[in-house]
Amino acid sequence: MPAHDILHHMRPGTLQLAALPPLSLYVHLPWCIRKCPYCDFNSHESAQADLPEQRYLDALMADLEQSLPLVWGRTVHSVFIGGGTPSLFSPQGIERLIAGVRARLRLEAGCEITLEANPGTFERDRFRAFRDAGVTRLSVGVQSFNDAHLKALGRVHSRAQAIAALEEAARSFDTFNLDLMYALPGQTLAELDADITQALAVAPPHLSIYHLTIEPNTYFAKFPPQVPDEDTAYAMMDRITERTAQAGLQRYEVSAYARDGHRCAHNMNYWQFGDYLGIGAGAHGKLSFAHRVVRQVRYRDPARYMEQALAGDAVAQDDDVARADLPFEFMLNALRLREGFALQDFRERTGLPLSAIESALQQAEQRGWIERSLTQVTPTARGFDFLSDLQSLFLPEG
Ligand SMILES: C[S@@+](CC[C@H](N)C(=O)[O-])C[C@H]1O[C@@H](n2cnc3c(N)ncnc32)[C@H](O)[C@@H]1O
Ligand code: SF4
Repeated sequence: MPAHDILHHMRPGTLQLAALPPLSLYVHLPWCIRKCPYCDFNSHESAQADLPEQRYLDALMADLEQSLPLVWGRTVHSVFIGGGTPSLFSPQGIERLIAGVRARLRLEAGCEITLEANPGTFERDRFRAFRDAGVTRLSVGVQSFNDAHLKALGRVHSRAQAIAALEEAARSFDTFNLDLMYALPGQTLAELDADITQALAVAPPHLSIYHLTIEPNTYFAKFPPQVPDEDTAYAMMDRITERTAQAGLQRYEVSAYARDGHRCAHNMNYWQFGDYLGIGAGAHGKLSFAHRVVRQVRYRDPARYMEQALAGDAVAQDDDVARADLPFEFMLNALRLREGFALQDFRERTGLPLSAIESALQQAEQRGWIERSLTQVTPTARGFDFLSDLQSLFLPEG
């Protein structure tokens, strides 16, 4: 059954979704100059000159065309161009991409369009050209401002290049994000403090700070570096929370901090269990229909993806989320938000009755991990500290 067959997705099922959630678009660009040793994203090494930019854009447009019947009539609320290193693409290529998206989908007025950019992959004029191409928000992957740590992380940029990139992002865009990681190989609390000081010095409207995780099938999994112990990592998290709050950034999600009005609309939609169409190599999507929630994955290898998409079938997997898995899938996202979720959204977005989670909610409440009103469930500070235990309460039984 072709994955873009709308009748197949509309057939009867056990769920009853009264309304469809907001829809976003994710576009994956899968190349980087060099593969970082900690990274398990779908990214492949390539020299900038060797990127098959036009062919890949052709494939993306073919992929999008094939997907349209599944999102017919729906408005897109945000677009995220991620990778990989999307800033390796030329501004003309990004312009073609955004124009192609606009020609095929109705974008909400003022729609957020984010592009991920790595320092050291552009010249000065490039950011402005991305803005002129239609990008409204840049996400700059800095990771650290410490040259020794950048080297240990296999990054191609230096501290100076990171600062220059951020200054340019601030000049060219009304809003931007800075990505940092902490608990880096050999990192001390004082060194983390220095990274935060430098990050705050550029006054980012949005900051994402991730605990470095050693992912399976990465170079670091094979040759594990010495990372800070658990107590130090906790102390680092406390320091991050304290210093970002002092700087007027609100921690609105486990790893995300923002000034008022600068939350990431695209990520908010993921966390609120909204829908997203994912196009590009290895892209994941989640789409709702009257009686089911579907997860899709595109072919992962870029060459295979281009072949498949241009031949009319980019989707490698297309599966219904099992009814029993929906509560946990919803909580994996929604409980990451400081403000939690509306009970109404749970009902609307899973198509399940509240009775499906009542006993887990009671247990969470007894342990002091959530608070609830008649309409809203909010994780407590303690619930945030024990987030994976809290989420596990919603796993299917048996
Ligand atoms: C999709 S990645 C790529 C962004 C961009 N290519 C870059 O590397 O700067 C988005 C962010 O995820 C974070 N990240 C990637 N691998 C990670 C890991 N193993 N542990 C924690 N954070 C990670 C990094 O902060 C990175 O900026
Ligand atoms: S630059 Fe980003 S996407 Fe590319 S390998 Fe490094 S972390 Fe992964």
